[in-house]
Amino acid sequence: MTEIIAVLNRKGGVGKTTTTINLGKALSLHKKKVLVIDNDPQANLTQGLGLEADGGTVYDAYKTGGPLPVIEIDAYFHATPSSSLLETIQNEAMNDLDWNYKLLDAIEPIRAQYDFILIDCPPSLGMLTANALTSASRYIITAQSGSAYSNSGVEDVKQLADTKLKRINKDISCLGILLTFHDAKEKVVASVVYKDLQDNYPDELFETKIRYLTLLKQAPYAGMDIFSYAPSSNAAKDYAALSKEVLKRIGNGKFH
Ligand SMILES: Nc1ncnc2c1ncn2[C@@H]1O[C@H](COP(=O)(O)OP(=O)(O)OP(=O)(O)O)[C@@H](O)[C@H]1O
Ligand SMILES: [Mg+2]
Repeated sequence: MTEIIAVLNRKGGVGKTTTTINLGKALSLHKKKVLVIDNDPQANLTQGLGLEADGGTVYDAYKTGGPLPVIEIDAYFHATPSSSLLETIQNEAMNDLDWNYKLLDAIEPIRAQYDFILIDCPPSLGMLTANALTSASRYIITAQSGSAYSNSGVEDVKQLADTKLKRINKDISCLGILLTFHDAKEKVVASVVYKDLQDNYPDELFETKIRYLTLLKQAPYAGMDIFSYAPSSNAAKDYAALSKEVLKRIGNGKFH
C-alpha cells in the first residue's frame, strides 16, 4: 500500500520543505520507493534538490489532469518539481467543481509505483494544501522549536484536518507532529515549546526532534539532500531517526 503523507503548517519557514526532502530520502535509504512532490509555488524543494523542471512541473498536472512529471534522482528517490506558475492555478481552478481533487487525480496513475509519496505544502491552508490533504492518507505537521507561536500553527492545521477535511477525506489521520530547529542552548523557549506540544499532543508528537543544525541550511545551496551532502552529520542522524519512527508508526507493512 502506498502511504501518501502531506507535510504542512500554515506558518512559513518551519521546516516543511527540509523535512519532505530529508525524510523522503531517509525512507528511500530503507529501500522504500519514494516520490516527493513540490506542491508549493516557491519551488524550494525543486531548488533544494537541484532539479531542472524542463520535463514539466506539478502545475501541468493541475492544469491538464495528466500524470505527474517525475524526475528519477536515483532508483528509490524520485521528485516532481514545481515552479512559480503554480501560483496562478488557484484562480484558474476555482471555476472547476473538482478543484480539490486535481492533485489526487494526477497522483492516481503512478501511485502504485511508490511505497511513500510525500507532499511539500506552501505556508497556507489554501487550495494547494487542500489538494494535498485530499490526496493524503496521513499528514505531518512541523513546528519550530524556537517560536512561542508554534502551537497556534499546529492547532490550526489539526482543526482543519479534524473537522472540515473529514468531510472530503474521512480516512486521513495525523502521522505525527515534528519539532524542528531544536536548540538545546535556548533552554527556556525550547523546553516550553516542547512541553506545550507534549501536553497538547502526547500521542502525535514524534520522539525525534530535529536539531538546529547549520548543515541543513547549507545542503539546499548544493542542491542536495542531507544524506548526500553530509552523510555522517547529526542532521542526517536526526532525519534517519525520524524515518525509523515513521516506519514504526506505520507498522512497516508490505512494501515494494
Ligand atoms: N533543523 C534546521 N536547522 C537549521 N536550519 C534549518 C533547519 N530546518 C530547516 N532549516 C533552514 O531554514 C529555512 C526554512 O526551512 P524550510 O524551507 O524547510 O521551511 P518551510 O516550512 O518549508 O518554509 P516555507 O513555509 O517558506 O515553505 C531554510 O533555509 C532551511 O534550509
Ligand atoms: Mg517550504
